[in-house]
Amino acid sequence: MSKIKIEYANRIKRLPAYIFAEIEQLKSEKKKEGVDLIPLGIGDPDIATPQLIIDEIINQLQIPENYNYPTSMGEQDFREGIQRWYKVRFNLDFDSESEITNLIGGKEGVANIARAFINPGDIVLCPNPGYPVYENGATKLCDGEPYLVPLLKENEFLPDFEQIESNILKKAKMMYLNYPNNPTGAIAPNKFLKEAIDYAEDYKFFIVYDNPYSEFTFEDYIAPTILQLNPYHIEINSASKIFCMTGFRCGWAVGNNEIISGIRKVKSQIDSGCPMFIQRAVIKGLNEYTSEKKPEIVDKNMKVYEKRRDILIKGLNEIGWKTEKPKATFYVWSKIPEGEKNSMEFVKKLINVGVILTPGIGFGQYGEGFVRFALTQPIEKIEEALERIDKVIN
Ligand SMILES: Cc1ncc(COP(=O)(O)O)c(C=O)c1O
Repeated sequence: MSKIKIEYANRIKRLPAYIFAEIEQLKSEKKKEGVDLIPLGIGDPDIATPQLIIDEIINQLQIPENYNYPTSMGEQDFREGIQRWYKVRFNLDFDSESEITNLIGGKEGVANIARAFINPGDIVLCPNPGYPVYENGATKLCDGEPYLVPLLKENEFLPDFEQIESNILKKAKMMYLNYPNNPTGAIAPNKFLKEAIDYAEDYKFFIVYDNPYSEFTFEDYIAPTILQLNPYHIEINSASKIFCMTGFRCGWAVGNNEIISGIRKVKSQIDSGCPMFIQRAVIKGLNEYTSEKKPEIVDKNMKVYEKRRDILIKGLNEIGWKTEKPKATFYVWSKIPEGEKNSMEFVKKLINVGVILTPGIGFGQYGEGFVRFALTQPIEKIEEALERIDKVIN
């Protein structure tokens, strides 16, 4: 018997229990029983990465220099490509030397930014329901204190700053905002973004604008970045959703040079960057933009998701489950039908018929009472899911 003592750090002990274990178990039981599962839970695009990008990865792989260590801040041509994209897409000018840095996907940046700026006890404003990394992977793992900012339906899933006590705002160092929003599908009007900037200035915290769904928009809606209203905050974005490249791990942070410098310092001690052939292929894709409008390689995929959204929303309303149409993201956020106990129990009922959704509680306490659909299945499967849901709720 070894005398070695293994004890987790206190910060690890603060992480929440994995609430999806029960769902995973149920899913595998159903699979064993031969039930055909329709996964509408995970937000991972089912559409292939554009061929132009795949071809560029293959081209770049013919160049042996691309096999070496990249720099963690991103190659110069990558940063210049991002610089060009912000100009064409948002009409913003950033310095590729000091105001742009590469990330190994947005998640890495969302988490690592806290290492650069959060001291033990610092308050971080985390929208809830929200991407769980804000509260856990970022704030708690840096010994910070997450303050959960409720995103309520009656406020169109936007934070209500008046409801946050001023002593909390005074102690806040950083706030995450994410619009178009996961999981609610909400978008941020400019009026709200201006208000957020005013609060940030008054209380001296900065905003991490997490914008991975900036291109995941429908009809004629064009999503802004908060940097258009004030370039002194920071935006994190990635190729994951724009080009259906979740597995390739390439993102970027843009904005305030002091914040960029902090992220770079952290990263230079931890990682060695996103592979060069991927950085270059992502820029090949972004170079397709000639204006704020989505280029064909992005637009055609968004049209696929838009059609799926319309079929799902129409179907849910027809079977009596009132659900609103989101203007952006590939998520549909819906209140659980009347009479259902809670989001987890309702999701379990649907797993019995092979339909997999994410319970709202998985995005935090203010997500309770809702479920999230991810539009990551073809139309036939969505229609099949609707038939099965109809049998459960009616
Ligand atoms: C709100 C939000 N932020 C960040 C990410 C991270 O994406 P990635 O690391 O693939 O760029 C996701 C992924 O689902 C997300 O939903």
